[in-house]
Amino acid sequence: MAVWAVLAAAGRGERLGSDRPKAFARLGDRPLVAESLERLEGSDWIDAIVVAAPPEWEEPSILVAEEIGAGKVSSCVTGGDSRSDSVRRALAEVPEDAAVVLVHDAARPLLPEEVIERVLAPLGEGWDGVVPALPVSDTIKRVEGERVVETLPRGELAAVQTPQAFVASALRGALSGDLAGASDCASLVEAQGGRIKVVEGDRRLLKVTDADDLALVESWLATA
Ligand code: CTP
Ligand code: MG
Repeated sequence: MAVWAVLAAAGRGERLGSDRPKAFARLGDRPLVAESLERLEGSDWIDAIVVAAPPEWEEPSILVAEEIGAGKVSSCVTGGDSRSDSVRRALAEVPEDAAVVLVHDAARPLLPEEVIERVLAPLGEGWDGVVPALPVSDTIKRVEGERVVETLPRGELAAVQTPQAFVASALRGALSGDLAGASDCASLVEAQGGRIKVVEGDRRLLKVTDADDLALVESWLATA
């Protein structure tokens, strides 16, 4: 049963504000995307990888894969206008006989092998997808403009990360529909009635959004 990984790396990184897409911002002495790609390559669980690259950055993405010896990279596709669209384009390169697809954000460079294992393991138990999540420590409110509309019950909330693992057919079905507004793949599978399991996430999977996040992840990498 082959496990394929899709690495979503095609975003522009507007909030980071670099002169290049976020996947090519420097993390240590390499482009950010190299870190998660190397970890997927080194994972015992992953058989093959498709990378969604920013438009005009397909060649540099292939070069990064070559430089780190990522022989599992099967192809590199041009990403789309949204994350979901990028994942859909990458999924089109995943062969029909793939049983399981793991979707990961290049913006979360510090991908621990144990989280890959944690999200893949329950798929044999009848779940359509598995997501890593952390408890929420802030109080989360729903707001409209400057007005608070509702305070959500914190105990019921979870901050969901990637990698997210899916039964390939469930993910394909979810991505063939309306993608508008979805910020992760699991929500699309949920919308189709799919059953998603939550497992423990990892603080190291912090998503690099702005320059402070990048500095923080860089400091963790230096001390790891
Ligand atoms: N992503 C993608 N294709 C897009 C948009 C996002 O593959 N059209 C990927 C990003 O490369 C990132 C992940 O989805 O790895 C999460 O997105 P986000 O953190 O929002 O990254 P960006 O969209 O690049 O950043 P910003 O929203 O600040 O522009
Ligand atoms: Mg974005």
